[in-house]
Amino acid sequence: MTSQNGDEMVVTPWKVSGEVDYDRLVQKFGTQLLTDDLLNRIKKHAGFLHLQLRRGFFFSHRDFDWILDQYESGNPPVLYTGRGPSGKIHLGHILPWIFTKYLQDAFNTKLYFQLTDDEKFLIHPEFDMKKMSDITYDNILDIIAVGFDPRKTKIITDVKDISSLYELALKVARHVNFSTVKAVFGFEDASNIGIIFFPAIQAAPAFLESSLANRNVPCLIPAAIDQDPYWRVARDVAQKLGYYKPAQIHSKFLPGLGKGGKMSSSMPETCIFMTDTPNVAKKKIMNAFTGGQATVVEQKRLGGNPSICPVGLYNYYLFEGDDKAAGELWKNCGSGAILCGECKILLAEKIKVFLLEHQKKRVEAKETIEKYLM
Ligand code: TYM
Repeated sequence: MTSQNGDEMVVTPWKVSGEVDYDRLVQKFGTQLLTDDLLNRIKKHAGFLHLQLRRGFFFSHRDFDWILDQYESGNPPVLYTGRGPSGKIHLGHILPWIFTKYLQDAFNTKLYFQLTDDEKFLIHPEFDMKKMSDITYDNILDIIAVGFDPRKTKIITDVKDISSLYELALKVARHVNFSTVKAVFGFEDASNIGIIFFPAIQAAPAFLESSLANRNVPCLIPAAIDQDPYWRVARDVAQKLGYYKPAQIHSKFLPGLGKGGKMSSSMPETCIFMTDTPNVAKKKIMNAFTGGQATVVEQKRLGGNPSICPVGLYNYYLFEGDDKAAGELWKNCGSGAILCGECKILLAEKIKVFLLEHQKKRVEAKETIEKYLM
């Protein structure tokens, strides 16, 4: 799929590249845009509209309207999200989890959080099981630091907790053939047989609450839109198993600090990791690509383009909570009233506060980890 500027747009669970055209992605994946009516309904239940909804970071869904109908008629959903532990957690990962916590609070509901150490073991030949379990532990600290309710959150680590998923995964796998996963995920003859089975394991938690409760429980999955292929498979199978189709609410991608592409650990210099010191984060920000002009004179004359600028977008999506201030920052960038250096310093200050707070909670998480494990 080619975007308007000619870059090939690739969005899969393992790769996002080119300029992402979200409207075209919604068409291609067959999802729906979030409407004002839906936003108003969430606002009513949550008491306020989360910044990531107000600014359009979460933008698309499948059956979110039905989830709200169910909730309003007394059948609250279970939430399900996850992480493939392949390295340190960065800002891009944390955004959908912050939003998931908002949903957990809004619906006062249970969350299953899956860690797919099996997936990452299968696709990273350089990882051994010890390394996988170290990364997994480290990632769990970041997950807990987001503040999920320990009484309502269960973290499932696939390798260790497979017995809770295996039966469901088998039931899913029996209905999915190789040609389907080949078409959906691009598997090839050379793909190892573990990864070919894996989509059944990522589908399983969507049905876990229904299976345990012995009644149909609606499931809502908040995640960036790269994970959507998994849900297409899970939704196809759901009805055959007698379960509700899992619903989704999708976010866009937080870009990396370089030019284009999503924030991805494969380019560490363009990532802000949750364990970076404020100084390291500041250095990365000061070296970031921006939507600004080449010189101060030109910036003042022509203005910058915040919509292609990671610094502008981080301020907008995450760090400037005040809508009026965020709007002004956006406008001042476009008009040239603010220079890239000033914007970077503003962002670095906000990120410093955010990182220090998270890192404190990360240390505290070591004491509470047991409460969250499956
Ligand atoms: P993983 O580890 O690639 O990503 C974890 C979560 O972070 C989101 N994400 C991003 N969101 C915004 N901007 C970015 N730059 C960015 N990079 C990653 C992903 O969409 C995801 O929500 N196979 C999955 C693990 C998994 C899972 C799930 C994810 C298992 N079950 C259920 C979501 C929901 C994976 O490797 O995610």
